[in-house]
Order: sequence, then structure tokens, then C-alpha cells
Amino acid sequence: MTDRQRRRVVRRWRRATVRQALKARWSLRKVDVVGKRALVLGDPTVDGSDIQVGDDFKVWSGHRKTLISGWGTIRFGDRCFVNVGSTIIAVEQIIVGDDVAFANEVFVMDSDSHGVEGRPHRQAPVRIGDGCWIGARAMILPGVTLGRRVLVAAGAVVTRDVPDDCLVAGNPARVVRQLSYPAGCRRAWHDEWCPCPKVAAVEEPA
Ligand SMILES: CC(C)(COP(=O)(O)OP(=O)(O)OC[C@H]1O[C@@H](n2cnc3c(N)ncnc32)[C@H](O)[C@@H]1OP(=O)(O)O)[C@@H](O)C(=O)NCCC(=O)NCCS
Repeated sequence: MTDRQRRRVVRRWRRATVRQALKARWSLRKVDVVGKRALVLGDPTVDGSDIQVGDDFKVWSGHRKTLISGWGTIRFGDRCFVNVGSTIIAVEQIIVGDDVAFANEVFVMDSDSHGVEGRPHRQAPVRIGDGCWIGARAMILPGVTLGRRVLVAAGAVVTRDVPDDCLVAGNPARVVRQLSYPAGCRRAWHDEWCPCPKVAAVEEPA
């Protein structure tokens, strides 16, 4: 890429960021607390009765609508990303840590809505630890706690708690293996914007 092309890409990127920041003000207007630098692409529905999101919250909604809703408590930490078509519905409590990514069409719920065999329906808080990456079309069911830096593979149905630093896959999701991260790595979803190298540079002895 030439310098001129690169400058053009950067200009477009900046313009898109401004548009997404303006969109965030509108789309997140029903959120009780919104941190700094929120970005929204497309037209998600974010309208629960007790939602708070941290800094650098990013939501995309496109050919499939993203929905974050319910009359329960929803909390997102800092630097969380919710991708196209994801559905997050709380009737009790869904707590998401820092640096968590939800890929396309992820489904998270803290209630089954209906009971089985005449029993009352299952309803219990969901907790998602710092740095987790929830793969495309995965489902996290009521009462599940994901530890820190858990990677949920695409299409997994998570019915039980998952310990820190594990890859889980399948239906029902099982631990496939333990994950090992470089020093200072905060999140399972590594990319060029990942803060890891800077953190590692600060944390590692010279
Ligand atoms: C989990 C994932 C990231 C691969 O991670 P990885 O560390 O490279 O894992 P591996 O490929 O080594 O797989 C380890 C094992 O898990 C299995 N596995 C991986 N992904 C799986 C899935 N989605 N469902 C079922 N099993 C899966 C592999 O078959 C392998 O099994 P084996 O040891 O019996 O051969 C990838 O499979 C995945 O799910 N990607 C989806 C990413 C996504 O949603 N992106 C959207 C953009 S945000």
C-alpha cells in the first residue's frame, strides 16, 4: 500500500469512528451508565431496565439485529465488544467482565422462561469472566459462570461453569484443553489492537 492509500484508509477509518460515536449516543440512550468512547455500528436494540457499560464499549448490528435487553441487571466491564446478531437477555443478572468479546449471533440468557415436567423454570445469574471470547453462535445458559480468558468455540452450548483459561467446545460444551497465554495477556481474542504487548512490556522485568 502506498502512503497516499494508507492516508486515505486512515481518513475513512476516522470518519467511520466519528459516525459510530454519534450513533452510540442514540443507540445507548436507554443505558443507565455508558463509559467513555462507546461505538455503535448499525441499529441494535439496547433497552433493558438496568444496564451499565464500561469504557470502550462497542456494539455492531447488521443483517441480524443485536439485542441487549430484559428487566434484570446487565453489566459490561471496559473494552467489551458485542458482534452482529447477538442476543443478551437478563431477567435476573448477567455480569460481563472487562475485555470480553461476543462473536456473531451469540446467545446469552439467565432464564429458561418455561419449566420442565411441571417444575419451576430455571433462572440464575450468568457471569462471564475478564478476557473471555465467546465464538460465533455459541450459547451460554442460565447459571453458568465462565472463568477468566475462557475461549468458547463456535456453536458451543455451555451448560456448566468453566474454569479460567480453558477452551470449551461442543454441545454440551466440554473442556477441550487448557490455554496458556503470554505474560500480561488479558484476553482470549488476540488481534492487532490487543493490549497484551504493552502490558507485557510493563510487567516483564527488563
Ligand atoms: C476455538 C477456535 C478459535 C480454534 O481454537 P484453537 O486453539 O486453534 O483450537 P484447535 O483448532 O486446536 O482445536 C482443538 C480441538 O477443539 C476442536 N474444536 C475447535 N473448534 C471447535 C468447535 N467450534 N466445535 C467443536 N469442536 C471444536 C477441534 O476439532 C480440536 O479437537 P481435536 O483435538 O479432537 O482435534 C475455533 O475453532 C473457533 O471456534 N473459531 C470461531 C471464532 C469465531 O467465532 N470468530 C468470530 C469472529 S469474532
